[in-house]
Amino acid sequence: MTGKLQKAFVVYCSPAGTTRHVSQTISRALQAQKIEVIECNLSKKFSETAMITKINRIKNHACLFIGSPVYASHAIPPVMDFIARLPEKINMPAVPFVTYGGVTSGIALYEMAQALTAKKMKIIGAAKIMAQHALLWQTEDPLGKDRPDESDDNLLREMVSSLLNKLSAGTDPAIDLSTLSYYSPRIVEKLKKTSLKKAKSQMPKRKVDEDACNECRECSAVCPTDAITFTPYPEFEANCIFCYNCVRLCPEDAIKADFTKIEKRIRDRAEEFKETPESQIFL
Ligand SMILES: Cc1cc2nc3c(=O)[nH]c(=O)nc-3n(C[C@H](O)[C@H](O)[C@H](O)COP(=O)(O)O)c2cc1C
Repeated sequence: MTGKLQKAFVVYCSPAGTTRHVSQTISRALQAQKIEVIECNLSKKFSETAMITKINRIKNHACLFIGSPVYASHAIPPVMDFIARLPEKINMPAVPFVTYGGVTSGIALYEMAQALTAKKMKIIGAAKIMAQHALLWQTEDPLGKDRPDESDDNLLREMVSSLLNKLSAGTDPAIDLSTLSYYSPRIVEKLKKTSLKKAKSQMPKRKVDEDACNECRECSAVCPTDAITFTPYPEFEANCIFCYNCVRLCPEDAIKADFTKIEKRIRDRAEEFKETPESQIFL
C-alpha cells in the first residue's frame, strides 16, 4: 500500500510497562498527524479477537504497529501467537518493534518481521528500544535504567514521521529484512537455540508465603498470560512467561523469589553482547 495513511493498529504486550510506553509514544505521534489509532494490549484477552476482526475488515490505508519485549532473545509468546492468528493481509504495511533490557535484542525483530511477512504483510520499518531490564527491578542500578527516555521517544517520533512520508511518496516503502538480522550468522545460530522454555530451569523459583497471602487474586489480575490458578493459594501454570508481575505487584509481598543468581548471569551476558546502537530505527 502507498498513499496517505488513515488508520493505525497499535498492538503490544507489556508485562512491566516499557513496551506500552513505546506503543503510546507511537500512538501519540500518529494521532498528532490526525491518524485514527486503535490500540490493543494483548494482556487483555477479550480485546484480541475483536482486534483481529477489525484488522481483517480493513481494506487499505491502514498500518499495523506491533510491539514485544525481548525475552531470552526472542519476542514473547502472546505476540507471536497474535501474529500467527492474523489473517493474510496482502501488502498491508507493518512495523514490528521491541524493547529489550540492555542485554541483547536478539533475533526478536527479525522473527517478528518474518512472521508478519508470512501473513503477506509488508515491513516498512522497525525499531528496537533499550528499556529497563524487567528482572532487575529490585536493584539500584538496573541495566537500561530510566530507559526509554526522551531521546528514545524522539527516535520513535522520527520513525513515525519518516514512515508517513514514505507512505505518501508513492514509492515502494518496504525495507530489506536482512537489516533486522544485525548479528553475525554464528551468533544468530546461537541465539536461535535459546528460548524461554530452555531458560525456564534457570529462572528464580517462586514461593508463596501462605501466612501472608490473603487470596486477593491480584497476582492473577496482573498476569499477562492468565497462568495462575488457586488451590486456594496461587500456583503457576505451564504458560507462565516469567515476567514476575505476580512477585513484583503482590500487595502483601506474599510471593517471593531470589534474583541474585540470575542478576549475575544477566550482567555477564550484557558484557558479552555490548549491543550497539542501544536504540535504533530501521527505515
Ligand atoms: C523472562 C525475561 C527474559 C528477558 N530476556 C531478555 C533478553 O534476552 N535480553 C534483554 O536485553 N532483555 C531481556 N529481558 C528484559 C526485557 O526485555 C525488558 O525489560 C523489556 O523492556 C520488558 O518489556 P515490558 O516492560 O514491556 O514488559 C527479559 C525480561 C524477562 C522478564
